[in-house]
Amino acid sequence: MKRRNLLLGGGAIAALGLTAHSITRGRSYEAAAAEIWAPRARQSMGEFDFLVHHATLAANSHNTQPWMFSGGADAVTIHPDFTRATPAVDPDNHHLFASLGAAAENLSLAASAAGRTSDIAFLADQDVVRIDLGATGAATDPLFDAIVERQCTRSIYDGRQVPAEGLDLITQAAQVPGCSLMLITDKPLMEQVLELIVAANTAQIHDPAFVSELKHWLRFNAGQAVSHRDGLYSACSGNPSLPGWIADLAFGLVFTADAENAKCVDQVRSSAGFAVFFTDRNDAAHWVQAGRSYQRFALTATALGIRHAFLNQPVEVARFRPELAKLLGTGDRRPDLVVRFGYADPMPRSLRRPLGDVIVAA
Ligand SMILES: Cc1cc2nc3c(=O)[nH]c(=O)nc-3n(C[C@H](O)[C@H](O)[C@H](O)COP(=O)(O)O)c2cc1C
Repeated sequence: MKRRNLLLGGGAIAALGLTAHSITRGRSYEAAAAEIWAPRARQSMGEFDFLVHHATLAANSHNTQPWMFSGGADAVTIHPDFTRATPAVDPDNHHLFASLGAAAENLSLAASAAGRTSDIAFLADQDVVRIDLGATGAATDPLFDAIVERQCTRSIYDGRQVPAEGLDLITQAAQVPGCSLMLITDKPLMEQVLELIVAANTAQIHDPAFVSELKHWLRFNAGQAVSHRDGLYSACSGNPSLPGWIADLAFGLVFTADAENAKCVDQVRSSAGFAVFFTDRNDAAHWVQAGRSYQRFALTATALGIRHAFLNQPVEVARFRPELAKLLGTGDRRPDLVVRFGYADPMPRSLRRPLGDVIVAA
C-alpha cells in the first residue's frame, strides 16, 4: 500500500486465519471501479462534466484528489483543495500542485476529444490552474484514449527492457516547458538511485507523523474504499483486504523498514528503468509543469503497454533531494518526481469521488 508498498504479508494473514477472499467485499468495489474507468463518449454527458471527469482520473498523491473545478464553456479552473493536503509527506504542497498539473493535462486531452483547443496556465496570484478552451473543430489527441487505461502499477515487473524507440517516444511526449525528464536504464546507476530510495524510505517509516498520515489515507478493505472513494486501497498494491480492526493490529507489525525496503529492492530490480522529472525553478508553477509532464509520460507509456509506479521517497525527504540531483548531475534543479517503469500485468483500479463532490460554483 503506501502507495508504495505497505504490504500485509501473507504469513501475517495466515496467522490470523484469514484469506483475502473471505473478507473482501470485492464485487461492489469492482462495480464502482468499472464505472469510474469505463470509456465515455463525449455525447454521454455535458461538456463541462466530460472535461472534469477525465481530469479526475489523473494520478494524484495518496489519491486524496486535492482539487476542485469551476468554470463553463470558455474556461475551466482547477483549484487546490488544501483540506486534502498531506503536510507530513508533502509539507510545501509540491505533490498537491503536481497533482493539479496531472489533472490539467487530462482535462486538455479531454477538451481535444470534445473538439476544443485548450491552453493551460498557472495563475500564481490565485494559486489555480486555468484551462482556456478555444474554438471547436480540434482533432482528438491520441493520448486521450490512454486516460482510462493508465494506472500506477505497484507490483513486481517482469524484468524486460523497453526498446529504444519506446524510450524516445516517451521522452518526446513528456516535453513540457520548465520541466525535464531523465530516463535511467543503466543498471549500476539504478542501484545508486535505489540506495537513496531505501535510505529515504527508512527515514519516512521511522517518522511517526509520516506513518500516521499514510495510515489515515489507507483503505484496508473494499467497504472502506467504496465508502470513501479516495485514498489508497490495499488491493491496488496487491495486498489482501482486511477488516478495519485487524488491519489496525496488523499494520504496526508488518509495516517495517526492513520489509518495505525489501519490496523496494524487488520492485526496482524487476523494472526496466527510472523516469526522473526535474524543474527549472522550485515554485508552484513549475510543480504543476512536473505533474503535466508526468501525466504525458504515463499516458504515452500506457499506450505502449509499459507500466509505471512512483518511488518518490528521495524527493519527499528533503535532505535527499540534493543527493539525488548530485548523483544525476542536474545541478541546482529540484528533482520533482521519481517513477519506475517496465512491464507487468494490470492491478485493480483506484477509485474517484463523484463529480458532485469536486465541482464548485465559479
Ligand atoms: C505527485 C504525486 C506523487 C505520488 N507519489 C507516490 C509515491 O511516492 N508512491 C506511490 O506508490 N504512488 C505515488 N503516487 C501515485 C498515487 O498514489 C496514485 O496516482 C493514486 O493512488 C491514484 O491511483 P492511480 O494513479 O492508479 O489512478 C503519486 C502521484 C502523484 C501525482
